[in-house]
Amino acid sequence: GAPVEVNIGKIEPGQMLRVEWRGKPVWVVRRTKAVLDEMAKLDSQLRDPNSDEPQQPDYAKNPGRSIKEEYFIAVGLCTHLGCSPTYLPDAFEQQVQGVSSGFFCPCHGSKFDMAGRVFAGVPAPLNLMVPPHSYVDDSTVLIG
Ligand code: FES
Repeated sequence: GAPVEVNIGKIEPGQMLRVEWRGKPVWVVRRTKAVLDEMAKLDSQLRDPNSDEPQQPDYAKNPGRSIKEEYFIAVGLCTHLGCSPTYLPDAFEQQVQGVSSGFFCPCHGSKFDMAGRVFAGVPAPLNLMVPPHSYVDDSTVLIG
């Protein structure tokens, strides 16, 4: 499939943009400073906080799992059985105590933080996949 060009210039802090790439949903989320601060405290609750697992682009192997701190880009499919997790920018605390935002999979209850890092003790075995992507300029990303 052809790469997909995405204009990210109008995404407000906290918002998610959904696009399709190779028949899969891809999310682009603009993370706030508060979210980044919160993510930094979660390591002990996560299965693979630094994304050491294989099959990820090199730029996903850092705690934010991104090229730019502010933007998180992921394939929006649960790594358990492929349901589409729900983005909960405000109500994630009902899923994980003390964590204000993240992604929750309604199928079997897997939970992911704002870098798509899977919490320990849920069915999903891996962090959300980060698709190959690159920045064309400050407001344009090429997925694929
Ligand atoms: Fe997401 Fe099973 S498919 S928890």
